[in-house]
Amino acid sequence: MKRIGVVVCVLAVAAVLSCEREQPAVKTNPGASAVKAAAAAIFLTGDELGEMKPCGCSGGQLGGLDRRRAAWSDVVAESRMVLDTGRLVAGDGEQDMIKLSLIVEAYRMLGYDAVNLTAHDLERMRHQGLMDSAAAGLKLISAEAPPTVPLDPSVRKVLQVDGKSVPVTVATFNTMRQGAEGIGALFPGGITDGGIEILLIDRCDLGVLNEIRGQWPGLDCIVCRSDIDEPQILAQQRPLAISLGHFGRYVSRLDIETTAGGPRLRYSKVPIREELPRDKQQIELYRTYQLLVKEADLLERVPRMPEPHGLKFLGSKACEPCHKYSYGQWSTKAHANAMDSLVKVGSQYDPECVVCHVVGMKYEGGYVNEEQTPQLNHVGCESCHGPGSAHVSDPSSVKTVGDAPAVCKTCHTPEKSTGYAGHEAEYMQKIVHWPEP
Ligand code: HEC
Ligand code: HEC
Ligand code: HEC
Ligand code: HEC
Repeated sequence: MKRIGVVVCVLAVAAVLSCEREQPAVKTNPGASAVKAAAAAIFLTGDELGEMKPCGCSGGQLGGLDRRRAAWSDVVAESRMVLDTGRLVAGDGEQDMIKLSLIVEAYRMLGYDAVNLTAHDLERMRHQGLMDSAAAGLKLISAEAPPTVPLDPSVRKVLQVDGKSVPVTVATFNTMRQGAEGIGALFPGGITDGGIEILLIDRCDLGVLNEIRGQWPGLDCIVCRSDIDEPQILAQQRPLAISLGHFGRYVSRLDIETTAGGPRLRYSKVPIREELPRDKQQIELYRTYQLLVKEADLLERVPRMPEPHGLKFLGSKACEPCHKYSYGQWSTKAHANAMDSLVKVGSQYDPECVVCHVVGMKYEGGYVNEEQTPQLNHVGCESCHGPGSAHVSDPSSVKTVGDAPAVCKTCHTPEKSTGYAGHEAEYMQKIVHWPEP
């Protein structure tokens, strides 16, 4: 199969956008449908990318391994299949490797039937010595396994659907390595009308998708790996084509409905909202994660750069003598207690959190930890005004923020501060600590 160029990619993006409009409303409670409701379903996640849990920085965030079980708890084990399509972590750092081991453990605890591994997942898991323990509790499949680590390209489970046994086969396929003609061989039982056949592929290229759909119209669903954070429907007609989105914000659900022509799939996406019940085991697992992060001393080993122009961070107290009013105002606001919020949830040793809740973590002279740099705890004066050493010795050296929204946005990102964009002025109003004219 040829690599498809930029033009097709652009078309694919356009198609994705137009599909989005046709997308049916989110159904968290399927059942009210013209076809007889089936208490059987396949649940899919993928592209976790290390996001075990949303940060809780502002309301309305979706996701979290601790709430995921709720997505399939209404379907009994014999009638459901739960699968992850891989790309478990985003990077190769030490923290990513801690996440990798815990995500594998989480999937085992959550009763996943199979996990598809990308070449990267495999390489990292082997490097971390995780293959054996993972395989002991999980069925691992891959289309990218090297000959030295043979893994099946497919997994099969017989589900109970309305008193009938329906075989479900999920096969994984790498479109860069093989042509579409090889797909049939991935399904040991064939691509039939009596069972469900699902194909996982490595990219959401519309040209590739259409080629596969044309050649294998009997497939029930094609799941492609996309760079878009939200789940998408790429084709509504059989074979249905979907992508799952990122970060575990949604679980994709394929309800199995029995029809005269055989079992059929109905797609919906389940948003993992804050209201869903939490799972005790997963809460414990996240505590273990926080403990491992603390024990690894990641905060002290964060890569740091020198401060600009040889300036130094002094801490907010150093500003107080000459700016009593501003200091007094600041100290009554949320920024002055930003680290307390992390302590409350146990994430005060996690550099991925601390970076926005203190002064200058990314700099050599910035926050290290509570013992070494107590003066740089919380979001302080210098988080916005920059390191203060030159100004303190010569107050005529300017410390204005200048482009305030740009500074705010370094921490008030759309992900962490869902309410910031569009309300910049209100946020500014809430931090006023300068004498009003
Ligand atoms: C270094 C990161 C950082 C920067 C820069 C930053 N903030 Fe914040 N901000 C935070 C954190 C963290 C919190 C949450 C504090 C808490 O409650 O723990 C917060 C909270 C707030 C709140 C309180 C929200 C509420 O609903 O109570 C306001 C308002 C706010 N910031 C405004 C701003 C504005 C305006 C700017 C830019 C001039 C700014 N922030 C720059 C990190 C930052
Ligand atoms: C990119 C910067 C950034 C990162 C990284 C970050 N936060 Fe925050 N956090 C913020 C901002 C900004 C706010 C204030 C949001 C608002 O009110 O709009 C906040 C607020 C909070 C709050 C207070 C919420 C409340 O109810 O007042 C908690 C708790 C919190 N963050 C926890 C975390 C944890 C845990 C992590 C790591 C998993 C984390 N944060 C990582 C920027 C960040
Ligand atoms: C969240 C970001 C933020 C924090 C934290 C912060 N400031 Fe500011 N500060 C601003 C912004 C934005 C302005 C508005 C004027 C500007 O752009 O400098 C301002 C204005 C000021 C002014 C008046 C400037 C003028 O032009 O008259 C002073 C003085 C000042 N801050 C001192 C402090 C001191 C002292 C602290 C700590 C106790 C502090 N600020 C903490 C963002 C911040
Ligand atoms: C030794 C006293 C002194 C200390 C300490 C001091 N400042 Fe100032 N600051 C001044 C004076 C005086 C001015 C007014 C300068 C001017 O208008 O030329 C000023 C002005 C400012 C302004 C107004 C904008 C500007 O640059 O004209 C900001 C913002 C500011 N200081 C922030 C800080 C911060 C942040 C700290 C702590 C790191 C700090 N200052 C520490 C004396 C001090």
